[in-house]
Amino acid sequence: MTSAPPPKLSVIGTGYLGAVHAACMANFGFDVIGVDVDQRKIDQLSEGKPPFYEPELPEILTAALDSGRLTFTTDLAQAAAFADVHFICVGTPQSANSNAADVTFVNSAVSGLVPHLTRDALLVGKSTVPVGTAARLRTLARSLAPAGVNVDLAWNPEFLREGFAVADTQRPDRIVIGTDSDSADQLLRAVYAHQLADGVPYLRTDLATAELVKVAANSFLATKISFINAMAEVCERAGADVTALAHAIGYDDRIGAKFLRAGVGFGGGCLPKDIRAFMARAGELGVDDALSFLKEIDDINLRQRTRTANAAVTMLGGSVNGKTIAALGAAFKPDSDDVRDSPALDVAANLHLQGARVRVYDPKAMANAAALFPTLDFVDSAIDACADADLVLLLTEWKEFVALDPNELAARTAGKRILDARNVLDPVAWRAGGWHYRGLGRP
Ligand code: UGA
Repeated sequence: MTSAPPPKLSVIGTGYLGAVHAACMANFGFDVIGVDVDQRKIDQLSEGKPPFYEPELPEILTAALDSGRLTFTTDLAQAAAFADVHFICVGTPQSANSNAADVTFVNSAVSGLVPHLTRDALLVGKSTVPVGTAARLRTLARSLAPAGVNVDLAWNPEFLREGFAVADTQRPDRIVIGTDSDSADQLLRAVYAHQLADGVPYLRTDLATAELVKVAANSFLATKISFINAMAEVCERAGADVTALAHAIGYDDRIGAKFLRAGVGFGGGCLPKDIRAFMARAGELGVDDALSFLKEIDDINLRQRTRTANAAVTMLGGSVNGKTIAALGAAFKPDSDDVRDSPALDVAANLHLQGARVRVYDPKAMANAAALFPTLDFVDSAIDACADADLVLLLTEWKEFVALDPNELAARTAGKRILDARNVLDPVAWRAGGWHYRGLGRP
């Protein structure tokens, strides 16, 4: 008996999610075609150059291209002719005029692909979508399928973190598959055979549950961060230390120590827009009350940016006008060049608008940051940013910032003041170096 040949895969949308998924699956031995509407991105990926910074991606992309198992195209018809399983990995950004997710790109992936199919196909959504989207897309796909072609659609939410995207794709902490079809389930077990052999839990649900698992997970993570930031506000007023508090409550394994780092708050292309889109969808479903707490989570989060800017103003005696501020960090988190909804840039821009001369340095996100905030001053190193600065502001916890030597830096700045907006520095060492150190939610 001969076993079925492995399915061929297409990955539609080659951002942080799709590019990594395509390269990893090719390295696991599948033939993969990556598709994007952006010709420049496709050209760069075809040359083994990721259009964004993600650790380990250049190496695995090169290996996948060298194996001959990974190609890229802008042509959905080519993907339709090539693959049996089509992963939808396009973005679902916040809509321009509301909190809801803009699902234009998932719609156009399906309507652009399906009419070109010449054999049965399984579409697998990975994008984060409002609950109900998958069922609607399945109906759409079936209505567009050429005669004699059977199209099914499953939902497989993605939980990867930027900065760890390769590791999270190769060995996710769980695989969630929403489908009511046993054959789709079997096919996806074959696609994820490597991860399953590695012991990764595989959870089969219905379509709606799979969609909701993703937004529920991100809402929970956002809630944890805003919870600890709310504690930071109380600690600051009460003269307590939120880092010690987080450490102490984290020992309770029902609470857990992760995602309890108080600071300038969460940003990026996922958490902020996902909690807003979830609230908007709950409103459409008539259950606004169930998620009204997420508005508070969002408000607490945005307040941290104002609190950070206000702390800078206070440290500079009530006004930043005419002062020089070193902003260390622009990316929304370390090991990423992503500046979407970055708290770091938000704070830097706020202080700039209050009259400060803000010098920004980030190890990887300079080009993206400068494109978004061209009026800020971008310099080539942390040391350059700090030269003659009245205040040093640590906004993204890159390792090289955490490793800065207070004694070495002291001679370079105009005022030995540091605001640690990520609570990652050792206050004792910095104060011993003669610095006026301030964290968020610390005495
Ligand atoms: C997040 C989720 O963690 C992923 O599981 C999910 O797949 C992804 O969104 C997505 O929906 O695509 P990501 O946005 O890459 O991943 O970044 P996180 O590591 O979750 O960090 C989000 C933000 O929270 C960052 O700005 C980070 O600095 C902040 N954060 C995180 C804190 O302020 N405190 C913490 O304790 C942890």
